[in-house]
Amino acid sequence: MKGAFSCRVLMTCLFIFLLIMAEEGREEMSSNGEPDKSAAMDTSDLSPRPPTETSEENGSKDTGPEAPAETDPAPFSAPSEAQEGDLPADFERLWKAAQDSPQDFTCWTDLLQYCEQEGHVVASHRALEAFLTHYPLCYGYWKKFVDLERRSGSNDKAEEVCIRGLQAIPMSVDLWIHYVNLLLGTLDMNLSDSPTRIRRVFEDGITAAGMDFHSDRLWDLYVEWEKEQGNMRNATAILDRVLKVPTQLYNTHYDKLKEHINSHPPKEVLSPEEYEELRTACRQSQKAERLEQAQQEEEERPPGEEEPPTPEGVDSEELVQKIKERVLAVRDKVYQENEEEVRKRWHFEEAIKRPYFHVKPLDRAQLQAWHSYLDWEMAELHRDTKDATQDPSHAAAEGSKPQGAPKDAGIARNDHRLRVLFERCLIACALYEELWTRYIRYLEPQNAEEARAVYRRACQIHLPHRPNIHMQWATFEERHGDIAEARRVLEELEKRLPGLVVVRLRRTALERRAGQLEKAESLLREAVAQSSEKPSLHAFYSIKLARLLLKVGRNCSEARRVLQEALEMSPENDKLHLNLLELEVSDASAEAVQECVRRALEAPLTPNTKILLSQRGLQFSEDFSSSIKSVISVYEAHQKLLNELGGTKRAAENGDEDPDKQSKTEEDSTVAAATTQAAPTPPHVPITTPPPPVMSADVSAQTGYGAYSSWYQQPPYGGYGYHNSWNYNQGYYPPS
Ligand SMILES: *[C@@H]1O[C@H](CO)[C@@H](O)[C@H](O)[C@H]1NC(C)=O
Ligand SMILES: *[C@@H]1O[C@H](CO)[C@@H](O)[C@H](O)[C@H]1NC(C)=O
Ligand SMILES: *[C@@H]1O[C@H](CO)[C@@H](O)[C@H](O)[C@H]1NC(C)=O
Ligand SMILES: *[C@@H]1O[C@H](CO)[C@@H](O)[C@H](O)[C@H]1NC(C)=O
Repeated sequence: MKGAFSCRVLMTCLFIFLLIMAEEGREEMSSNGEPDKSAAMDTSDLSPRPPTETSEENGSKDTGPEAPAETDPAPFSAPSEAQEGDLPADFERLWKAAQDSPQDFTCWTDLLQYCEQEGHVVASHRALEAFLTHYPLCYGYWKKFVDLERRSGSNDKAEEVCIRGLQAIPMSVDLWIHYVNLLLGTLDMNLSDSPTRIRRVFEDGITAAGMDFHSDRLWDLYVEWEKEQGNMRNATAILDRVLKVPTQLYNTHYDKLKEHINSHPPKEVLSPEEYEELRTACRQSQKAERLEQAQQEEEERPPGEEEPPTPEGVDSEELVQKIKERVLAVRDKVYQENEEEVRKRWHFEEAIKRPYFHVKPLDRAQLQAWHSYLDWEMAELHRDTKDATQDPSHAAAEGSKPQGAPKDAGIARNDHRLRVLFERCLIACALYEELWTRYIRYLEPQNAEEARAVYRRACQIHLPHRPNIHMQWATFEERHGDIAEARRVLEELEKRLPGLVVVRLRRTALERRAGQLEKAESLLREAVAQSSEKPSLHAFYSIKLARLLLKVGRNCSEARRVLQEALEMSPENDKLHLNLLELEVSDASAEAVQECVRRALEAPLTPNTKILLSQRGLQFSEDFSSSIKSVISVYEAHQKLLNELGGTKRAAENGDEDPDKQSKTEEDSTVAAATTQAAPTPPHVPITTPPPPVMSADVSAQTGYGAYSSWYQQPPYGGYGYHNSWNYNQGYYPPS
């Protein structure tokens, strides 16, 4: 029974999911306006929070930390009186439109465009603030926001906005560059700590976004800036770092490095350690060469003449040349290795046409491109994991980032690369549940806390209206023992999308599993009460409630009462009759069973349903009645009914019922009774996000929908197996 219970929940869930998909399929998506060209996310901070604080400027109110979404438009909808008069004419109307359907991207772009046209700072400020809570991955608007603050003369606020934006989208190379440019344009470079601050921002940017395939511009800017500052050694160090990163323009960095080395004396561009080491090595080899030469010359040189001495401290032209050669020989090896990494990724990168966030749906091929890339990068990780366990030195030698034990370095590097890829992917595919789920599946075995953070991001920021991922999250929390959090997730979802049957059933099941029967019961009672305007939904919840009372609460009388009450509202509902009959049959009260049949025969039901119910009554009487008289009387009543309603085929054979089939169909009768109502029209869910693609086999296996699709097919009544395969004529009277 438990199985049937949760199957139905799952099926209902799938159904609603499909409905939503269908609905989404119809929506025309609006454009993002400003495309993110290279967008990606920080991997060091895997859980960028939604922007939590707002500069409390003149009534532009805060959205609250976990209200990124549409649930709670209230804080926005009440502009402070002080400014209301100041706002441009159409602001209120456009603002309201956006608030009313926050998932409609066009409403937002209309609002933002209008504010920009009007050049109204307060209005723009408020619009951007609200917009970015919903769409934090639109880095272009963060840039506009920064510029707005800067234009209104507040550099500090502009910097704050940069920081908030980068928390939301730490892999945005553009936004990092914007941040650096803001500092370059506003900091007083005469202050001694200004270069330090800028260098720190560069470093943070490289840590967050420097592994991105499209991070070249940030690296370039950093190198150029260090050169401008006259820190040639720093520039070399940065070029050395980027030489190990597979990027789109990897070869240009190498060219710059060669140019850099060749145009400066080694002493000025190399770290003192490297310089000394190479110099010593070169001098030694020089000496060895000279010695060899000298030995040859010795024989030819006139006696008495000596070799000319080389002055100490000044590198000869020859030595410099030798050092440079060595410097580049070392780099060339690194470059070749990196080129190999780039080569392996190239066609995956080529296949990705839209690396930035956009509300427009991605086509199937684009999603597939991401999946293939992830598949490949995962295979690399597994390969290296194997190598590392077989040959520890191999992984260590390659590791670009020594972390932990050296033999783990290769794995750590690949894990890092994979995470970077996931984070990039989840910018472009932020509106696709399947990719969030995939990321979570990768993270969960490593670290549940990280997986949880990703759920939080997905559900609270990007997919506030997708029931599936919320329910997955709740399941995740329940699996990890956090019932309270599972409860909160489902409650929040229900608040956001009131009236979803699947969510109410999930909540009920959660409470039941948690041993909170009363809570489960009251959730269903509330659902029954709230659906009094919708008879079929009312009947559906009543059946659910009755089953809970009967099967779990073992309170037959109360279950009966619930069904009888529901029948008063919906006497035409065959599922109610069937379930009540099941209940009476299992309670084994002959009187109640026949009473139930009588009630059904008087109800506005179809002939077939009536016959079915009557047959059930007859079968019960057969199986359990102690008096042949009463069996015959039930039988005759049934015959009479058949004659009255006519038209039921009778099979020739007697007693050929397959016991398996029968028990299955008995089970199904309740299931079917309940499930056919399981999908009342869901409330209108405004959706402007792209349709989630058809669930992959993996996902359905994980969530268990695939296995249960047959549960949802209502068996035809013939399938109950009574009237077609049982010739009652032959049962009690000799054939005529
Ligand atoms: C609100 O705006 C007024 C003038 O427009 C300004 O003087 C004041 O400092 C602002 N308040 C805040 C909290 O920024
Ligand atoms: C920085 O110092 C230079 C020379 O010391 C001076 O000419 C310049 O005006 C200063 N700049 C600022 C922004 O103070
Ligand atoms: C770069 O150069 C500056 C000044 O020469 C120095 O203080 C700093 O430590 C260097 N930074 C790096 C990352 O090499
Ligand atoms: C059945 O439920 C009713 C109503 O909740 C309650 O009054 C009654 O005591 C319950 N009976 C049993 C046997 O639990």
